[in-house]
Order: sequence, then structure tokens, then C-alpha cells
Amino acid sequence: MQKYLLWNSEESSILITRNSKTIHTHKGKIEITQPIEYGDTLFTTKEKKYYVLNPTNEDVNIKINRKTNTFIIKDLSIILGYSSLNKNSIVLEIGTGSGAGTIFLSNFVQKVISIDINHHNITNAQKNIQKYGINEDILLILSNHNTLFFKENKFDAVIIDLPEPEIYADFCKTVLKNSGDLIFAVPNIEQVKKCREILSQKKFTYFRTIETWVRKWLIRTNYSRPFHEMQAHSMFLTFCKKIK
Ligand SMILES: C[S@@+](CC[C@H](N)C(=O)[O-])C[C@H]1O[C@@H](n2cnc3c(N)ncnc32)[C@H](O)[C@@H]1O
Repeated sequence: MQKYLLWNSEESSILITRNSKTIHTHKGKIEITQPIEYGDTLFTTKEKKYYVLNPTNEDVNIKINRKTNTFIIKDLSIILGYSSLNKNSIVLEIGTGSGAGTIFLSNFVQKVISIDINHHNITNAQKNIQKYGINEDILLILSNHNTLFFKENKFDAVIIDLPEPEIYADFCKTVLKNSGDLIFAVPNIEQVKKCREILSQKKFTYFRTIETWVRKWLIRTNYSRPFHEMQAHSMFLTFCKKIK
């Protein structure tokens, strides 16, 4: 679905879709009576300006209806940078959750197949994807590690976001292409060490574990400073690659 960010200031912006007609903002109501385009300026009933912009990946990520913990934009950005993912990649995501990772990845790779054990989460993720994602590049599957089957060497990358990623170690060894990326996300370092140890035994290599901190700044004429809120520790991301 086409998405628009109505942006007034750092404190006031709204993400809308083409279907929206009346928008309630902190600064009055906006009635949309004709098609809008990126670059337009809209006025509220209190005569405040909102610019019509193409939303960033972060704007979309923030809006997702969350029923689980999710990847946030700093984690997803790092996933792209530290892997070999590109527009030709076929990616398996294990742990769809709310679909935050699925939606982001579908903007950058050829296809995301995403699986989850919980049908409530799949249903919620599907709604988020319909609203914010690229539907035709995404396939959601209700499954777990005992029931899942894909042919050998199918995926360029597998991304796992669930508490015990090692339960998928053998499966990943089978379905990843040689030199394919295995990326797993866990919140504590003991889980990192345990899973790295198991994957090493299965001859995965080129391990890197990364924690991401991002600090945004508020820029003002005389009082520029970092924002009060900071996206600090969310998870450890570990990257490795399959060898023969
Ligand atoms: C933290 S959430 C994933 C969030 C997701 N990365 C996002 O950005 O929205 C973890 C998900 O893993 C699913 N899960 C837990 N164990 C699983 C398993 N063995 N196989 C597949 N999915 C599983 C849970 O149902 C939950 O939806």
C-alpha cells in the first residue's frame, strides 16, 4: 500500500496510507479531499503545515503493531551491512514475530520466506505486511523446526530471532548455500556463547558478534544535544557463514 509521512516537526509526524481521509494531529485536523503527492504541503484546521514525504524505513518500523519483541531499525541496518544480503538474495527468517524484520528485509532482497510457530503472531504480522510491506516478495509459513522442510542450498541467508537459535543449527547447515549468512539475534551474552559454540562444531565460520548503539541528536540554534531517549541495548547480533 502507498505510504505517506505527514511531517510537521521532530515532535509531530504521522504515517498514513492512501485510504486515509481525515487525519487528527497534535496541531489540528487535516481533511484530505484530493490525491496527495510527495512534496505537497497540507494545512491543518489550525493552519499548521505538514509536508507530505516518502516515509523512511525507520518511520515504518516505528508504526508496526507489536505483539512480540521486534527488530528495531538499528538492528536491521546492521544486518544488511554485516551480511552479503543484496537484491538477489533469497532469505529465510525464523521467528516472524510482528513482521518488523520481514517488512524491512523485503525492501532490500528478492524474497523473504518467514516462519513462526505461533499463528496469532503470523496473523498480526500478515496485517502489518499488508499495510506496510511488499506483499508479493514475502511468504509467511506457520511451522517449527520439526516440521520445516526446504531443499538443500536454497537460501542466501537465514536470520533467526528466537530464544534458542541453536535448535535450528542442523537445519540451517542444510538449507543455506555455501558461504550463506547465518544471523542470529539474542538478548544476552551467555546465549551468544552457547549458540556460537554449537555452530562452530557444525563448521560455521567467520563469526562476528555485534551490539548496536545509536544516539540521535536534537539540533537547535543554541541548545543542540543528544535526545533524552536512546535506543540502547536491544540484542546481540551474531553473524557467521556456512562452509562445506
Ligand atoms: C522476538 S519474536 C521475532 C520478532 C521479529 N524478528 C520481528 O522483528 O518482528 C520471536 C518469534 O519467534 C517465534 N518462535 C519461538 N520459537 C519458535 C520456533 N521454535 N520456531 C519458529 N518460531 C518460533 C515466536 O512465536 C515469536 O513470534
